[in-house]
Amino acid sequence: MKSFYIKNYGCQMNVSDSEIITSILLKKGFFLSKNIENAKIILLNSCSIREKSELKLKNQIEKIKYLKKNNGSLIGLIGCFSKNFKELLLNEKKIDFFINPDSYKEIESKIYNSNNTVKNFRKKETYEDVIPYKQQKKITTFLSITRGCNNMCTFCIVPFTRGREISNNPFLIAEECERLQDLGYKEITLLGQNVDSYFWKKNNNLSFNFANLLELIAEKIPYVRIRFTTSNPHDMSEEVLKTIYKYNNICKHIHLPVQSGSNKILKLMNRKYSREDYFFLIKKIKKFIPNCSISHDIMTGFCNEKENDHLDTIDLMNKIKYNYGYMFSYSPRPGTYAYKNLVDNVPKNVKKKRLQEIINLQNKHSLYRMNEFLEKTQEVLIEGTSKKNYNYWYGKNSQNIVVIFPKEKNSKIGDIKLVNIKKFTSHTLIGELIK
Ligand code: SAH
Ligand code: F3S
Repeated sequence: MKSFYIKNYGCQMNVSDSEIITSILLKKGFFLSKNIENAKIILLNSCSIREKSELKLKNQIEKIKYLKKNNGSLIGLIGCFSKNFKELLLNEKKIDFFINPDSYKEIESKIYNSNNTVKNFRKKETYEDVIPYKQQKKITTFLSITRGCNNMCTFCIVPFTRGREISNNPFLIAEECERLQDLGYKEITLLGQNVDSYFWKKNNNLSFNFANLLELIAEKIPYVRIRFTTSNPHDMSEEVLKTIYKYNNICKHIHLPVQSGSNKILKLMNRKYSREDYFFLIKKIKKFIPNCSISHDIMTGFCNEKENDHLDTIDLMNKIKYNYGYMFSYSPRPGTYAYKNLVDNVPKNVKKKRLQEIINLQNKHSLYRMNEFLEKTQEVLIEGTSKKNYNYWYGKNSQNIVVIFPKEKNSKIGDIKLVNIKKFTSHTLIGELIK
């Protein structure tokens, strides 16, 4: 009864959570199964950020329900899930138990009796004494520095599924970074819903903001690359920008979700910045870190979005010309302010049309930005063999852009190599190794 299997859905935060849960269960004497068919406990690390994510998970549960019947496996829901979704699955007996992101330490008790109530560890960082279990040997990895979010964007379910924001102890984060370095990792991405609002305080003389944390880590592991995500534009400080510039091992890329280019929509979303504030921030980023790449998240079809609001988004994209971005159409999430108080009044086909328009525009901008790398020399961390061509390495430059280049005898996974860019597509730079 002690073998378990975890399947991840959604963002890197879930991957990071799975490492924590694995570590907790291994300590309790459970075994990690590599195969879902052999596992007695199947944990589904759920994502509920969009309606589509929940539908995907529901389909997946249908596919594995025979394991419940044939093997008597228990299916548990972990990660981010809305109350409605969890209740639906429980009522339909599709899952045996659930456990929310603040209670993983008590998961064993839920496995043995799904009716057990479990403690909610909220007051201080829940998992700072748990060393995340790394299953796959890779070159790059992730590390959570905050949990939850205090921002309350009106469309977003995260504050409800993950609770209020808590920042981890900076010294333990730095220690973990050092451990990851010793394990051979060459790149660590610091994770949080809103990393820039990181704040940890011991007393009046000892406190850390995000810039202080970056500095601490950058000095602790000078030969390991550091990335971070996500930055809410509202919280990004000049101090952080200066720190990124100062340290060669902090990558020159900022993921800066804008969501919309319309002030009316930003206000309805409770994003706490205007398009003018956003432009000002972009200007500042380019001033302090001239070679910084910028990516975005944009959502189309939020409540009351009219054609002129959509045109504002197009205009903002045209002015900024992002390196790349992630684009979605809005779906109401139960429990959120928008779900309760605003009307989801943009027809599906309009949402879809607007989404396609911004995707097409982003492709154009990506090409424009890729062209800027042509004939330039890039520092590329080799992550593995290119999926499309065995004779090519696959890696990323500091700006988080994929670079492929022919393998040479003196190069190997984990090396940082100088590569001169000769060609590109909208997603990939193609280069040659500099001897
Ligand atoms: N913390 C991040 C966002 C995390 S969610 C931030 O500060 O922006 C990742 C992305 O999913 C969001 O940026 C948003 O574009 C999208 N998203 C969130 N809720 C959504 C919803 N209800 N419908 C569609 N997309 C959504
Ligand atoms: Fe969600 Fe906004 Fe926080 S998008 S995760 S509430 S910054």
